Amino acid sequence: MFLRNYWYVAASDHEVGRRPLRRIILGEPVVLFRTENGTPVALEDRCAHRHLPLSMGKLIGDTLQCHYHGLRYDRTGTCVRVPGQDMIPPSARVKCYPVVERYHWLWIWMGDPALADPDKITDYHWLDDPNWGAKTEYLHVSANWQLIVDNLLDLTHLAFVHETTIGNSALVEHATVKVQRAQDNVVVTRWIIDQPAPPTFVKVGGFTGNVDRWQIIDFVPPAFLRLDVGATPTGTGAPEGRRVGGISMRNLNAVTPETEATSHYFWGQAHDFDIHNAQTTEKVIDQIRTAFLEDVAVFEAQQVNLTLLPNPQQTDINADTGVIQARRILDRLHQEEQAAAARRVAAE
Ligand code: FES
Ligand SMILES: [Fe+2]
Repeated sequence: MFLRNYWYVAASDHEVGRRPLRRIILGEPVVLFRTENGTPVALEDRCAHRHLPLSMGKLIGDTLQCHYHGLRYDRTGTCVRVPGQDMIPPSARVKCYPVVERYHWLWIWMGDPALADPDKITDYHWLDDPNWGAKTEYLHVSANWQLIVDNLLDLTHLAFVHETTIGNSALVEHATVKVQRAQDNVVVTRWIIDQPAPPTFVKVGGFTGNVDRWQIIDFVPPAFLRLDVGATPTGTGAPEGRRVGGISMRNLNAVTPETEATSHYFWGQAHDFDIHNAQTTEKVIDQIRTAFLEDVAVFEAQQVNLTLLPNPQQTDINADTGVIQARRILDRLHQEEQAAAARRVAAE
């Protein structure tokens, strides 16, 4: 199940240049490149002639020439040259997708282009905000995108999957958790008071005693999870809003379905301490990358079982409240999108 009328991250800004980049998004082949003045373009990566990926071709000025028989397409996906003939068949065109560059990511709209409003792009300003140090990374995951969403909405797994970095048992045994649900949003807030800091926090935050730790997970459909995480020395007032003497970070995740069984996992980490020190950013990123690779091993192992037996019965536990709320929202939005598409077809 893919929701189409949403902005998704298609690529990191530095991945896209004058060499065409192929990426499958929501099951569709897409080719990304930049025009000579740097404007990003996204076209269907399938030549209208005999379906070779256009990404195998090359850029001639602002046109993309197919590697097979040399048809050239402009940035709107219209064929502008067929070698050896003057007449260009009207059917010689490929799909063109709206693209916006923001927060060091290229965002693509896979749905009805008439609905593509850049104001609807989810806010990830921490990634290019001068008040934060930040870096982004990309992981290819051989698993369905919803497994990644589930994972980030239930952070009790940190105690088991990430005990060498961001997890410890206090997360499960000594946490107070609140789940807030709005129309298209779930927020899970977890506080762990007066407990030891996990290894990553000791390493990057220098804590020596117990801490008050928070994890505030903000889910926006289809697959955006922005985590406000941090800790302060215990008793200094973080639960009341006085975040002093500790560290705050934003763990920023944007998952883009590639196929039903594979995903593009764009993520970044922003930190509010030592913000101009690239070594600190690298240290933080190293810790999170270690943890995320542990997650990827989990997703991919889950996917193997899900492929063997699709839609098996599952057992829910208390920690799943946020996950269940998010799935309800996604189910509703999917039904709404399907109904709208059916209405459009009926009206045509
Ligand atoms: S397949 Fe592209 S020109 Fe023939
Ligand atoms: Fe994890």
